Amino acid sequence: MPLQPPAASAVPLTEVSLRGDVVRGDGRGRELGFPTANIRAVSPSEVPADGVYAGWLQVSSDWFPAAISVGANVTFDQDDRRIEAHVLDRTDLTLTGRHVTVRFDRRLRDMRKFRRVANLIEQMQRDIDIARRLLAEHEPVRENFDDQI
Ligand SMILES: Cc1cc2nc3c(=O)[nH]c(=O)nc-3n(C[C@H](O)[C@H](O)[C@H](O)COP(=O)(O)O)c2cc1C
Repeated sequence: MPLQPPAASAVPLTEVSLRGDVVRGDGRGRELGFPTANIRAVSPSEVPADGVYAGWLQVSSDWFPAAISVGANVTFDQDDRRIEAHVLDRTDLTLTGRHVTVRFDRRLRDMRKFRRVANLIEQMQRDIDIARRLLAEHEPVRENFDDQI
């Protein structure tokens, strides 16, 4: 199956965000090369449609650019719906137990079941590259000004 890069004109989203706690995942993300924070939403009604997004993860007053997946990890035959955020270029963050806000800025594509894990890894790398480009153009409006005084 050919890999489809997301459309460059990925749909902008406005005001889509959710709050939640970072819980322990299966630890597979780190093995794939893309560790993720698994987020349990405080309010399930805030969770957007299944898919892959570019957005921001806020932890205290820090905002991290992220590639986010919403939905079941179908490649691994899991059927529970998850929210997972990979913070771009960071493998050193320990976020388990933290309360975070996720802001969804762009929808990139649907979640897909890949026949080979290598293909999922390749697609995640593309998602990350596109998220990096899109997010560089749209810095978030920071709501915490305390550290800027
Ligand atoms: C940017 C991004 C895109 C993803 N796309 C898919 C996908 O298309 N299909 C899928 O089954 N899982 C997808 N995932 C979820 C991964 O399968 C998941 O992060 C990985 O299995 C690690 O899970 P764990 O944190 O529970 O260990 C994606 C995750 C990210 C961060």
